[in-house]
Amino acid sequence: MKEKILYIPNQDEYLKVSAINNKIIRFHFSKDKEWRHNYSFAIEKEIIPIDLFSEESENEFLISTSFLKISMDKNNGSIKIYDRENNCILADYENLGYKRVDKKVYCYKEIKGEVAFLGFGERTGDLNKKGKKLINWNTDNPHHTPDVDHLYQSHPFFLAWNPQVSYGIFFDNTYRSYFDMGRENENYYYFFAEDGELDYYFIYGPTPKEVIEGYTELTGRCYLPPMWALGYQQSRWSYKDENEVKKIAERFKEEDIPCNVIYLDIDYMDGFRVFTIDKNKFPNFEKMIEELNKEGFRVVPIIDPGVKKDDSYEVYKEGIEKNYFCKKENGEIFVGHVWPGESVFPNFVREEVRKWWGEKQRILVEKGISGIWNDMNEPSIIPSFDYKMMRLLFYHLKFKEPPRVPSFLEKEDFYSKTLSADVVHGENREFTHDEIHNVYGLLMAKASFNGWRDAKPEERPLIITRAGFSGIQKYSAVWTGDNKSTWEHLYMSIIMLQNLGISGVPFIGADVGGFWGDCEPELFARWIELGIFYPFFRNHSAINTKNQEPWEFGEHIEDIARRYIKLRYKLMPYLYSLFYEAKEKGTPILRSLILEFPKDPNAIKYEDEFMFGPSFLVAPIYEKGKNERDVYLPEGTWYNFWNNETFKGPNIIKVEAPLDIIPIFVKAGSIIPMRGEENKIELRVYPGEGEFLYYEDDGISWDYEKGIYNLVRFSLSKDKLNIEYIHKGFKETKFITSTI
Ligand code: GLC
Repeated sequence: MKEKILYIPNQDEYLKVSAINNKIIRFHFSKDKEWRHNYSFAIEKEIIPIDLFSEESENEFLISTSFLKISMDKNNGSIKIYDRENNCILADYENLGYKRVDKKVYCYKEIKGEVAFLGFGERTGDLNKKGKKLINWNTDNPHHTPDVDHLYQSHPFFLAWNPQVSYGIFFDNTYRSYFDMGRENENYYYFFAEDGELDYYFIYGPTPKEVIEGYTELTGRCYLPPMWALGYQQSRWSYKDENEVKKIAERFKEEDIPCNVIYLDIDYMDGFRVFTIDKNKFPNFEKMIEELNKEGFRVVPIIDPGVKKDDSYEVYKEGIEKNYFCKKENGEIFVGHVWPGESVFPNFVREEVRKWWGEKQRILVEKGISGIWNDMNEPSIIPSFDYKMMRLLFYHLKFKEPPRVPSFLEKEDFYSKTLSADVVHGENREFTHDEIHNVYGLLMAKASFNGWRDAKPEERPLIITRAGFSGIQKYSAVWTGDNKSTWEHLYMSIIMLQNLGISGVPFIGADVGGFWGDCEPELFARWIELGIFYPFFRNHSAINTKNQEPWEFGEHIEDIARRYIKLRYKLMPYLYSLFYEAKEKGTPILRSLILEFPKDPNAIKYEDEFMFGPSFLVAPIYEKGKNERDVYLPEGTWYNFWNNETFKGPNIIKVEAPLDIIPIFVKAGSIIPMRGEENKIELRVYPGEGEFLYYEDDGISWDYEKGIYNLVRFSLSKDKLNIEYIHKGFKETKFITSTI
């Protein structure tokens, strides 16, 4: 049997249960046995349910897989999920496993004992969301603080963890949805959506890493970014012209600071028209890129979804002719204000439109760019009055931060200004904006990625996006939007990135140095020290703020920045191998402690530390004037990275952290592949027991998909290092070993 359909008398609805594999169970409810939601924006691969074993007694249906047993009450549909040892992992709360109120669909589950809830995508505030309410509605909020909820991305997924067992829930519904994790009542949590179907997946661990593996089995995993995309990247809104861009690049060379990417923000365009170039500011755009490429810099321009409404502009004209822009129910094209003024928005749900967009991208790809930066794709619009005010304040009064919303206007959704609710999407206007809003950015990133593969099939791109939904990791890296040059925002990034990683998105980062406001030297130093552990490592700052390149803060800070950026490059073979693991299993690179120490009940308490892969424990400094901090070391032996002093965990130790030191500890038994001299890989061995999978390929092409790569297992036992090729498809590397 592939699926079980059960009638729920108290709701007069049907439940269809199927298993995607032995650990993932899908629960899908329907009023009329139609299960309209037979597509998914997040899960794109074909899902073939496995065979289920079923039994029936007077009051319940039982289905089982080799890991799980699911019991469903025949009278009220109540669900209980057990593991092989008959421990109940999850149960519906009372009979509320399914509830419908008008269009809204709800699901209530019991909270029993100690449990932490993590994930939920890009979230500020504490790591553990127990007792919190979370909303999924992609929102451009340039003023976000730790207490602000929904931001640019929506990931209706969470991981429930306790030291015994972890499981995940993915609520595959794109409408505005809500999770109340024991806030209303500590005995239950519930999730609901404004519309659509109750269609969710239970993902069994038992470890948190296995939950993420299961979740990304469904929603997909990242591709291997080109190796250069893991280096340091420099951005600013905006480097104003060709000369400035070149000068920035030259300066990096002069200062001996490695940098791989320079970004072009909105001002490279002609009047903010996408796919155009301002010929006055960039008269030799192609040549500039060619020269920069020769010097080892890549160029990544911004592309926003809003297309300027302008009858003399080709992209607009073509889109109108072909009927490619979003319309309202009454058939009128929706017009909203963004940077170019009045703009229209591609109907990205349609494959044809995504293809067209991808083709347009070719204009820039052929000029030599190396990636695409997608922004404002929540989609964000600014109502006409605000738009005029904002431009006035930003450009003319040189505001360092966007104007604050007057308090009489401050309401929850002030910033989620987006296409109006009467906008319809799709081929035949089959989707309301409510359903598409949260996936608009995902669809744009998909268009960018696929367009890239068509236009330049020989090279992997760097695609980055601000908005996204579950599954975004397949197409793009994610940065956390408009943060501030403050200590609070440096701290927030530590939490946001841990939760985004748990949500299946490994290639992530926050604007290093902070976006809004002037960054002070001490903050900059601390942020670079932390930033080298962001999987996506980019310094970006806003218009009218003080320049934020590493040399802007005096010699001492620049030295610190140089040293740390170089350390990032030294660690590249380790980092690239972690990306391989992310590609294979979805495992985040920047990891919450619970991922490496799932049985340690204390691991959840130290959210201000994280693991960088399996080996490094990083404990950032996030307060002004601080030069020491407490560090929790989980069980095992740890080496202080800076002086190799050893410590035994579990323990809390006090560590000195002068301005040029971020506390880093390496787990005993680690084998860290680092860049050595003459293209050799230096294996730094930290005595103990352990292993590491080292991955290498050409770092640039898609050849790895054809097996052209090496996978090497390093294992360390009784201080003896063993090197074993698991896959040899690429030229051999020379390893040199150094034991500390
Ligand atoms: C948005 C982006 C920011 C960018 C700016 C101008 O605020 O989040 O990164 O610099 O728009 O394009």
